[in-house]
Amino acid sequence: MSFGSQGVVFFLAIALLATCAQNSEARVTIENGLKSMVYLSPKITQHHGSVSNKYYYDIEFPKGHIALKSFNAEVVDEEGNPVSLQETYLHHWVVVRYYERIGIEDKKHDGNTGFHKSDHIIAGNAGICSHGLTQFFGLGSETRKTSTRVPDPFGIEVGNPLEVPFGYEEKWMLNIHAIDTRGTVDAMGCTECRCNLYNVTNDEYGRPLDPNYLGGLYCCYDETQCKVKNGLESVERNLYLRYTVKWVDWSDSIVPVKIFILDVTDTWQTTGIHDCLIEYNVEQSTTGIATNDYTSSRRSSVRFPIGGDVVYGVAHQHSGGIGSALYREDGQAICSSTPIYGKGNDVGDEAGYIVGMTTCYPKPGSMKIAKGETLTLESNYSSEKSHTGVMGLFYILVAESSLESHNPVQVYKEFKVPIFSWGLAVFGLAICAAVLVAYQRRKQSEDGYQPIIVT
Ligand SMILES: *[C@@H]1O[C@H](CO)[C@@H](O)[C@H](O)[C@H]1NC(C)=O
Ligand SMILES: *[C@@H]1O[C@H](CO)[C@@H](O)[C@H](O)[C@H]1NC(C)=O
Repeated sequence: MSFGSQGVVFFLAIALLATCAQNSEARVTIENGLKSMVYLSPKITQHHGSVSNKYYYDIEFPKGHIALKSFNAEVVDEEGNPVSLQETYLHHWVVVRYYERIGIEDKKHDGNTGFHKSDHIIAGNAGICSHGLTQFFGLGSETRKTSTRVPDPFGIEVGNPLEVPFGYEEKWMLNIHAIDTRGTVDAMGCTECRCNLYNVTNDEYGRPLDPNYLGGLYCCYDETQCKVKNGLESVERNLYLRYTVKWVDWSDSIVPVKIFILDVTDTWQTTGIHDCLIEYNVEQSTTGIATNDYTSSRRSSVRFPIGGDVVYGVAHQHSGGIGSALYREDGQAICSSTPIYGKGNDVGDEAGYIVGMTTCYPKPGSMKIAKGETLTLESNYSSEKSHTGVMGLFYILVAESSLESHNPVQVYKEFKVPIFSWGLAVFGLAICAAVLVAYQRRKQSEDGYQPIIVT
């Protein structure tokens, strides 16, 4: 091919890219092969004291056979400014993969008929709870200062066409639970979902609440209202979860990791099944004054299903949390993860809130788990005050041992942009198409997105 025609193609590609950039604020950036894209969730409308806990199906997400390298998120307003936890408490966000039967698009928007079992398959993480906690990523108030980076040469493999059941396509769901605490009588109480602050007698499904149930998700479900100060004029506003996904194209040099989420409320030790209750309460200590010890420590053990190397670990705790650790059978800590509390009024440093969790990146190969090994999770809270609806989760990434022949130290190849070639044109067109599709989707989401509810 002559330089002339390549040049024309090059300029065509540049022109297309320029057009795309004008059409959408969504752009893929590439740095050393690492691709990055910023997306906005569907709109979350809130007013003083309101709760939004919605499930958004088919969210914007990178396409193709890729390895996820990180997923970061934060709540922003309509101008894109980060929103303080003191105004909107981000209880949690989780992102779950699922497979959807191809061609049900029209049916889906025919009223809110639910997440059909026959049309949808949750393609969750590797375990180990028997229901719930199927997310690939998920954090809460700590999201701004918690690293989710998957270290090289590892990656979370998604979009492998060979793994998608015939007749289905891979999609992503985002659940965002946000509590507006502006003007509330007890902001921390609202964030702990204390039932006495929410005017509810039934749970989300209309079942009467146990009078002994003091607080937790059954009292702060979607569209509930936390108690606000008298005479307050409620102001509506729109927010978004802005999420940034980083990934690399899949290649044989990437070592896949499996995602496991352990829950300190897992009943496996006593019931033999992984019934994860997700939440628990911390009672105020009656002996703390005498002993000067306000630690409420909860532990649970599980038998780990695979053998491999831990390459990343992080805990999830709520306000009052003072640390969590995962231990091997011999008592050695696999990872210890501690909350970082804010100290002031700035966004990302809100006093009294957990604004980050420390993470672990063990040297590859240095932190092994044997198949069938019993692991113990420990979650510590301060019992100086009582707490409702707290959590003790531990998220780890494990590279399975059977893949050790996989050349685990090789770093993924750098993505080279083939300048002055058809490659760039194809690349440009692909990005343009992706950006336009993302833009159109975004438009659709804004013009009345209809989430399907998991029933
Ligand atoms: C509580 O709920 C009831 C019925 O759902 C309603 O009539 C009442 O106004 C609510 N009270 C407050 C303070 O929101
Ligand atoms: C949790 O508390 C117990 C008892 O005070 C202590 O021995 C343990 O080291 C603590 N664990 C973490 C992870 O902070």
